[in-house]
Amino acid sequence: MTSEQGFFTEANSAEVVTSRNANAKDARLKAVMEVITRKLHEAVKEIEPTEEEWFKAIMFLTDTGHMCNEWRQEFILLSDVLGVSMLVDAINNRKPSGASESTVLGPFHVADAPELPMGANICLDQKGEPMRVHGRILDTEGKPISGAKIDVWQANDEGFYDVQQKGIQPDFNLRGVFRTGADGSYHFRGVKPKFYPIPDDGPVGKLLAALGRHPYRPAHLHYIVEAEGYDRLVTHIFDPDDPYIRSDAVFGVKESLMAKFQPMADPASGFDGPFLDLAFDFVLSRKGQ
Ligand code: BEZ
Ligand code: FE
Repeated sequence: MTSEQGFFTEANSAEVVTSRNANAKDARLKAVMEVITRKLHEAVKEIEPTEEEWFKAIMFLTDTGHMCNEWRQEFILLSDVLGVSMLVDAINNRKPSGASESTVLGPFHVADAPELPMGANICLDQKGEPMRVHGRILDTEGKPISGAKIDVWQANDEGFYDVQQKGIQPDFNLRGVFRTGADGSYHFRGVKPKFYPIPDDGPVGKLLAALGRHPYRPAHLHYIVEAEGYDRLVTHIFDPDDPYIRSDAVFGVKESLMAKFQPMADPASGFDGPFLDLAFDFVLSRKGQ
């Protein structure tokens, strides 16, 4: 009886491999490897790859690793375009009813963006269509949260973050950290962001092209909202009129995260001419809620 002797056959392949892990010290690792092995063997049995195809898959992963450095994480991009980043986000950020939904962090956050006075203009090079962004940070009962930290970053009107255009955009362009006062409100100025491609000059970009997929993300603003006693919220606000709103390359769009960029011309606003008005409230869930 080959399987009882533990010899490998096509039929019992997954069980033979997982039973070898019987003495694993870490029970979670053992459980994870059991599932991964079972699903991977199942996939290989269904696909029946040729040896050339399997080598191509190995080389794809090798190239993905070679593309990674201090600034570039091609494996996260792969996870993003496979929808796995959004799935992990969904599993880890199940919210009570009424709380704002989360979405992917992405690779362009910087930890040390400057804290700015409420109302500041985060656009340091005056390029783009001016925009007023405002709203409130609330709890799930609708009460304002004071002292909330709002970390915001966005691409410019050409679809680039400052970190992608060092020497072209000023450092910390279109980024800022704000803190709410007693009424929980926030407001700042920016410019209308543009859709942009995720980095597509590596193996993940090649994979998207081979699959007939575009690499674009619809225009958005990134937020991390934090307040003591509340769950940290990592999210975006999206432009519902963006051409890529229904086909985000990384599946980050949620219905509840869309907000109209309303054209306005209000002389009392402090803007010299027409501008876009973007209103969005964020609702934080209490820790353990
Ligand atoms: C971003 O929105 O910054 C982003 C998210 C996932 C992959 C690439 C970029
Ligand atoms: Fe982004």
